[in-house]
Amino acid sequence: MGHLEIGVLASGRGSNFQSIIDAVERGYLQVSLRVLVTDNPAAFAIDRAKNHGIEHLVMRPKEFASREEYFERIAAELKRRGVDLVVLAGFMRIVGKPLIDAFRHRIMNIHPALLPSFPGLHGQRQALDYGVKISGCTVHFVDEGMDTGPVIIQAAVPVRDDDTEDSLSARILGFEHKIYPEAIRLFSEGRLNVAGRRVLVKGADIEETGLTHPPAGL
Ligand code: GRF
Repeated sequence: MGHLEIGVLASGRGSNFQSIIDAVERGYLQVSLRVLVTDNPAAFAIDRAKNHGIEHLVMRPKEFASREEYFERIAAELKRRGVDLVVLAGFMRIVGKPLIDAFRHRIMNIHPALLPSFPGLHGQRQALDYGVKISGCTVHFVDEGMDTGPVIIQAAVPVRDDDTEDSLSARILGFEHKIYPEAIRLFSEGRLNVAGRRVLVKGADIEETGLTHPPAGL
């Protein structure tokens, strides 16, 4: 696969976006961060884009006639820039069909739980409320559902008795920042094949299955 052009969609602080920027800058990822698209003019992700010379576009749904048109236009802006892979990094909207169709199996998302457990908002709080002992994070391809697409890579993270939503979120976030660049790297190397619900990783060894990230102390 040639040099991959990436478009990032983010709505907020953009720490995952930053982890990808850092991975590019240290040469772990050999891809171009072509454009950031955000639905939130106050997103801190915009400052990160500016600091690293990455183009950004603010596109707010209310400026478009319909949800369909909104996602059509995002797809068009991404295509116009030659984007090959769309990376959702804290993009707080369900992606509309026009964008999914334009980038089938070429849109990734990261979720702060071990899917299919605890999809939707506040995955970390859901895990605490349920009482699970292990949670984690998941990078998956995006389909029409909410956090339902084929799983690419996961990391397991222990839940401690004294965890709060904040402390668990912070522990999980540390692993998000590792596995998102890993998933993008596997994609950029042409090593991800979607077979139904499964994503098969070419040449994967145990280093690249998520088991690289066992909870400390296990
Ligand atoms: C992360 O917890 C991610 O898993 C979820 O939204 C949050 C985004 O955080 N999808 P950030 O904007 O990347 O810091």
